Amino acid sequence: MKKLLIVASLLLATLNASAQVNITPLPTEVTESEGTFSVKTNEINSWLVAPNVVPTGKISKHLKTTVSPEFTELGEEGYRLKVNKKGVVIESATEAGRYYALQSLRQLLPREVVLGSYGEKKVNLPFVEITDQPRFAYRGFMLDVSRHFHPVSEIKRMIDLMAMYKMNRFHWHLTDDDGWRAEIKKYPKLTTIGATSDSCRMNDMEKGLYYVKNYGPYFYTQEEMRDVVAYAKARHIEVVPEVDMPGHFCAAMAAYPEFSCEPEGAHAVIDGHGGIYEDILNVANPKAVQFAKDVLDELCDIFPYPYIHIGGDECPTAGWERNAECQKVIAEQGLTSPRQLQQRFIKEMSDFVKTKGKRLYVWNETITEDGSDQKLMQETEATIFSWYPSKKAARLAADLHMPTVVSDIHHQTGSYYINRRPSADEGEPLGAGKGDDTVEKTYTYVPVPEDLPAELEQYYIGVQATFWCEWVSDSRYLEYLTLPKLQAVAEAGWTPERKKSWADFKRRMLLDTPVWDALGYNYSKHWMK
Ligand code: ACM
Repeated sequence: MKKLLIVASLLLATLNASAQVNITPLPTEVTESEGTFSVKTNEINSWLVAPNVVPTGKISKHLKTTVSPEFTELGEEGYRLKVNKKGVVIESATEAGRYYALQSLRQLLPREVVLGSYGEKKVNLPFVEITDQPRFAYRGFMLDVSRHFHPVSEIKRMIDLMAMYKMNRFHWHLTDDDGWRAEIKKYPKLTTIGATSDSCRMNDMEKGLYYVKNYGPYFYTQEEMRDVVAYAKARHIEVVPEVDMPGHFCAAMAAYPEFSCEPEGAHAVIDGHGGIYEDILNVANPKAVQFAKDVLDELCDIFPYPYIHIGGDECPTAGWERNAECQKVIAEQGLTSPRQLQQRFIKEMSDFVKTKGKRLYVWNETITEDGSDQKLMQETEATIFSWYPSKKAARLAADLHMPTVVSDIHHQTGSYYINRRPSADEGEPLGAGKGDDTVEKTYTYVPVPEDLPAELEQYYIGVQATFWCEWVSDSRYLEYLTLPKLQAVAEAGWTPERKKSWADFKRRMLLDTPVWDALGYNYSKHWMK
């Protein structure tokens, strides 16, 4: 009986204590102990300053932070956070670690404090020691701004959300068939002709489905892109620009048909529907290849990180098969499939960006399509974004000793394509999928297979929530579908698999909803049931 009581009181203590540590993503190691540290709200206010951005140096009397390379055990992004009777101590090896510790500290505070509605009374912080670092180096969110454009103000709101939940890569899908959204000074028609469609299918929260004429021109100037890079950098997020090529290239070909496979043919920017089209870059035309390099050249200057994404997904080869220049290259080089023109092109882009100290990111078709030259792809040292068939593609990448980021589309096993509808209830907006891509499926998806040989684990470098905008023309619907699937993928990126729990995640998300409300985020509610 006595033993039972001890167990029961221990269990109760754990429940009580963990009711106070509601950090998402769930930290790696949390040790709670008896007691609380009391601190005045006006001191806490100096910890909160602007949302997401933290002051440097000593923060306040009871909050000491130390960034030192001696804390190597905490890794590139880890931290230790201690609350004891003297106050709060944070240790990390890097500024990123310190930043994440402060995000965790915010989540240790009663939500009312963060919201400014707590009043004057002191705050009791639970005694705790947290030692935390991410599972994966790459914790991403991709947004397609081609099918429908989203303004810089909304991009920043998404970046804020990522920062709150310790995500670190914003993959900006800047170009596709339905619009070219990045200003390139050398090719101005990309953002006059290429950023405008004659008509566009819209689908938003207010009006549902409708069509507009003359959509655009909508694009980001180079100054705006630099501003987004700086905004993200202050939140320890790196921006990965994507120029999808040589397929998904209708917008570019409408602007510069001379670089297409059929310069005299018809070319048009697509109307927001998405899809797969044959109007692709003529990779056998040296001028067209130079055009691609020139575009990358300008973007390499704006985005200072050691990688650039060049897409490579869903690229039909029919245009190449009909084109005499392409046929000549195939014959001269003894290529065994027209697909190999794509790897040859990627290799050339890779060699080009390597001269700038960068590597390529690409979608998995570059290694999984029939006829692909996998050996040439290995030589590029590219990172493979595995989406379909994700598990097979990721495993192939690992077998080829190529790093891979997992972003599985699959709605049956759990979708990291977070734009897919979580519910088909009456009154729900139209959208991708059948309505069975629930938040729970996103959360419970296991990105690294349990039977993966241990030596291949190193190639699984991260996870990504991917958002396509064919059905999403306004920011309110974007947010509605994003929250809390983004947080679900953020937790997959940070927290060890064995510590994850859907019920506990849901509990923590419910606690966070007042913060989302205060910041004006729109979010779905089916997952609360
Ligand atoms: C993709 O979904 N086409 C990468």
